[in-house]
Amino acid sequence: MPGAKNISLQTYLFVNPKNFESNIFKEEKIKYILGEMKAIITGTGSYLPPRVVTNFDLEKIMNTSDEWIRQRTGIVERRYADPGIGSSDLATEAAKRAIESAGLKPADIEFIIAATLSPDHYFPGIGVLVQAKLGLAPIGALDIRNQCSGFIYGLSVADQYIRAGTFRRILLVAAEVQSSNLDYSDAGRDMAVLFGDGAGAVVVEAYDGQDRGILSTHLFADGRYVSDLWMEKPSPRDKPVFRENFIREGRYFPRMEGRSVFKNACEKMPEAVRIALAQNNLRVEDVDVLIPHQANERITQMVAKSLNVPAEKVISNIDRYGNTTAASIPIALDEACRNGKIKSGSLIILTAFGSGYTWASAVIRW
Ligand code: UT7
Repeated sequence: MPGAKNISLQTYLFVNPKNFESNIFKEEKIKYILGEMKAIITGTGSYLPPRVVTNFDLEKIMNTSDEWIRQRTGIVERRYADPGIGSSDLATEAAKRAIESAGLKPADIEFIIAATLSPDHYFPGIGVLVQAKLGLAPIGALDIRNQCSGFIYGLSVADQYIRAGTFRRILLVAAEVQSSNLDYSDAGRDMAVLFGDGAGAVVVEAYDGQDRGILSTHLFADGRYVSDLWMEKPSPRDKPVFRENFIREGRYFPRMEGRSVFKNACEKMPEAVRIALAQNNLRVEDVDVLIPHQANERITQMVAKSLNVPAEKVISNIDRYGNTTAASIPIALDEACRNGKIKSGSLIILTAFGSGYTWASAVIRW
């Protein structure tokens, strides 16, 4: 059947169940069974809302200083979405760019994975909104809730679906609008200066070869530390959910035990990378590009130092965007692709740590 290699097995069989009998299907199926199919990233895209908010802008509305923010975090400015713009809007723009850079049309996408901690609505998640905004057929849309690790968790899901032969072209998008719910009082200033809005996306496709692709993903979680970094309320455990006293106590804002998160981020990201390198029989010297979650420039430097990766191989854009949670890795990945830091054949390591706690790593041969 001509063109059979360009569609997923699911679509192929759905279109004509007789394809079960065809030799092409058997040939493809054998490759999947033998684990010979790889998932590769064929397109990247990002979208940052145009409104720039500098540290000096924050000085005007809260008790902080440009000097404190730069010294403790490396952040100079971040982007804020305008009122009325949700994470699904940023996600849709990033998705369009990723699909275009893959040389595809939106209609080529067979499945959507969307990661965010700041969906437009309490439910549903943004996956279905991205699907509708891209005008796609009723393909599946899965939402991932793993905060800063959300992109790597999503990449892991995409990798499994592709290698299992379920889908051949997956859109993975991560987006956040965090600026609308930060506590700009002294109680929340540690977090308010860190976070920004933005979106990043990739297209993950099946690849019939061994020379490139996602080599591994490793996912971790430790739920004992839930309250170290969380937005406790609103909670359906409360009846009623919304209460005056919770508003007064600032419990609808995200809260963080900054020092504990900092310490664990500096330990767990290098640990996850070491496990990944060992599994792939790779050495730190083999790494061409390290993209850590952009949480804090000091954390990025500690991770690089712990792994002994030289600064020129480490991607950092936190000075311009702050911490964009799930979106930070795909935004950095997109920029590194577009400015030539990532080349064909590069060995890329991704690693993230955040709320949950959750943390993760991925190894990709580009
Ligand atoms: O993406 C998810 C993962 N998140 C992270 O990885 C973030 C991890 N944590 C951090 O990056 C750091 O803990 C922070 C940047 C949040 C805070 O830095 P720190 O060096 O741990 O500062 P601290 O919380 O120990 O606070 C030191 C001082 C305190 O004042 P006192 O008690 O020493 O008088 C804070 O009240 O700095 C004060 N402070 C601020 N001052 C000016 C806290 N936030 C601010 C602020 N501006 N924005």
